[in-house]
Amino acid sequence: MMKKLSSLNGKTLSGKRVLVRVDINSPLKNKKPMMNPRIKAAVKTISFLKKHGAKVILIAHQGQRGRGDFISLKNHAKLLSKYVRVNFVKDIVGKKALNAIDSMKNGEALLLENIRFHKDEDKPLKKPNELLNILSLSCDLYVNDAFSVSHREETSLVSFPKVLPSYIGLTFEEEISNARKIKSRQNVLYIIGGNKTKDLICLLGNKKILSGGTISLLGILASGKRLGKHETLLRKERSLLKTLKKFKNNLILPTDFAYEKNRKREEILVENLPRDEYFFDVGKKTVENYVREIMKAKVIFVKGPLGRIENENFSYATRTIYKAFMKTKAQVIVAGGHSSTYLEKWNVRLKRRDYVSLSGGALVAYICGEKLPGLVSLEKGMKK
Ligand code: 3PG
Repeated sequence: MMKKLSSLNGKTLSGKRVLVRVDINSPLKNKKPMMNPRIKAAVKTISFLKKHGAKVILIAHQGQRGRGDFISLKNHAKLLSKYVRVNFVKDIVGKKALNAIDSMKNGEALLLENIRFHKDEDKPLKKPNELLNILSLSCDLYVNDAFSVSHREETSLVSFPKVLPSYIGLTFEEEISNARKIKSRQNVLYIIGGNKTKDLICLLGNKKILSGGTISLLGILASGKRLGKHETLLRKERSLLKTLKKFKNNLILPTDFAYEKNRKREEILVENLPRDEYFFDVGKKTVENYVREIMKAKVIFVKGPLGRIENENFSYATRTIYKAFMKTKAQVIVAGGHSSTYLEKWNVRLKRRDYVSLSGGALVAYICGEKLPGLVSLEKGMKK
């Protein structure tokens, strides 16, 4: 059984140093994090703890090593501080971090540097694990408020529940309760995109999946077509082609794509491929087909943008699909950091029974019936 932070109060929390894993992994604009629903969700747990006099030590990640979004959390602290004061410490387990934790007063919060900058974050089983040892000695309790990262086997998610009394935060509580409901939905039309293709593979057994983003380009390759120079961007993911071939009847592929010419959007039909271009969005004909499917559907699950939404020229498909959500009678479930951010940015107003989840890959893993390492660890609790 996972214990809930919401069941605690000032008596148990006042003066306690509480280590909180939040998910504030954000879409970037000009290399800075955009304001987004994950930031606002994290504020709930932080405010709760501050109100009860805890000393709140926040750990979180941004991006993945080797990708352009792997940056410091300095500006995330600024975004959080628009709602609740959070100091930033450019350190994780060094002197700076430890001094800052030592000198905290009740009701204060600080955010440590991007936890994935530390070498032990992705090696939870490593011994000794400096990240685990130092932070667990500096804190009294641990809270996982990041359901949306709990599918990752990382120290900040799986190791602390083994050594500290642990709880789920307010956002985690809400996310898992909705994930349970989403898992039971039948006759779902899936719309999947983005660039974290591996996270989507478990969905491929489903009957009907409309594709965009990286998985749609890989699907085109798996169907035997060539893409031209875009293939170089997909080389790391070629190992997925065999699996994609197996599910070729379920995965609906785009019939056209968009590329950039003289800073303008141009469209090309798949039948005219290969062409030496980079493809940044699915094309307008594909969007028309997808919108028709959306209007016929009963339940829709969407994860990941269909194109490069941060670029105006290539946000067309995703934006048009999201606008169709306002017209369809289907129940719409929107999953993930990018989707929830742009839904808000584009003022897409969903129906009351629709649902926006802050979790993308984690929710997909959950509805596929996979075991989420972060959840397993919380359920097991401390080693006796
Ligand atoms: C997400 O954006 O889905 C979560 O923050 C997890 O991030 P990750 O895919 O980089 O592990």
